[in-house]
Amino acid sequence: MSTFKDINQVFALIESELTETESAFSRYLGSDIDLIPKIGEHIILSGGKRLRPALLILTCGMLGGNRKTGTLLAAVIEFIHTATLLHDDVVDEADMRRGLAAANTIWGNEASVLVGDFLFAMAFDIAVDQGSMATLKSISTATRRLAEGEILELMKTADVSTTEADYLKIIDGKTAILMATACEVGAITAGAENSINKQMKEFGQCLGIAFQMIDDILDYNSCEENLGKTIGIDLEEGKVTLPLIHTLQHALPEEKEKVKEIITADYVSRQDFDFVHGLMKKYKSLEHTTAEAEKHLKRAHIILNQLPDSQEKEALHFITDYVLSRDR
Ligand code: IPE
Ligand code: IPE
Ligand code: MG
Ligand code: MG
Repeated sequence: MSTFKDINQVFALIESELTETESAFSRYLGSDIDLIPKIGEHIILSGGKRLRPALLILTCGMLGGNRKTGTLLAAVIEFIHTATLLHDDVVDEADMRRGLAAANTIWGNEASVLVGDFLFAMAFDIAVDQGSMATLKSISTATRRLAEGEILELMKTADVSTTEADYLKIIDGKTAILMATACEVGAITAGAENSINKQMKEFGQCLGIAFQMIDDILDYNSCEENLGKTIGIDLEEGKVTLPLIHTLQHALPEEKEKVKEIITADYVSRQDFDFVHGLMKKYKSLEHTTAEAEKHLKRAHIILNQLPDSQEKEALHFITDYVLSRDR
């Protein structure tokens, strides 16, 4: 039995470390160029689950490191994550993020892209001061692969021949790699052996893949108040995610034709969305996606089980289960 009953208790365990990470956000957003703290604080201080900082700090503690040594690197990872959110909302034409109006809808695309660039640059500025060469390498490779994932997804827009393998490659880049790096950097910071660093990287990758699969379900099956972002945007933007790939694999020829029309259209009506959602229910595509996510999470638990027991390890097991049950 886990000592944790809900995700807030996991965050309570590392409250003092996360407070240090949060104070770094405000400190490093300070600039006499008004727009930087304005947009930066709008998105960073508006919440967010802080899952990546938690992964880094918990991994560091689990492997015998002083959790406090990871707090600035946790800020680096969250800055990179936030930069990708600013850019992603421009690319996806999203109008809501973390329960607020997306920055692009308030300040425009140009400002969002440039402040996103600032956050990337600031992240590397802090990382150079803080990290070892191994840490820097992990973070810089992750940032490159993140961009590759987003670019590949763009290239596959509205492409109904997108395969599960294409999809895995996209989500591995755009989402899993940063969680993998958060865990790897946590392990490096703890001074763990190389083989353990690699194990934790794989743990984060499994978690990240499942995380994005669940995110892709929530895009069809959640409510905006909980999720804090617009629902149905994947279909509108022509994103061929796993639920849709599965539906297309099973759909009748006439159903497939209609889906093709909807996904390539500029505007998706409520009726169109309900049609596609109905097919997903008919072919149990959301259940299929959940089952795929569960496979990756099972592997994540197996990796954790090989590591020494601690409260932090239990917390990571809890996060692994939370990825499946989350509604935001
Ligand atoms: C959003 O990530 C982007 C995806 C990888 C789906 P999160 O769901 O972790 O976003 P915040 O940080 O909690 O807002
Ligand atoms: C998530 O992309 C990954 C990045 C932000 C790089 P999505 O477009 O799937 O995520 P949401 O739904 O906007 O958070
Ligand atoms: Mg998006
Ligand atoms: Mg996107």
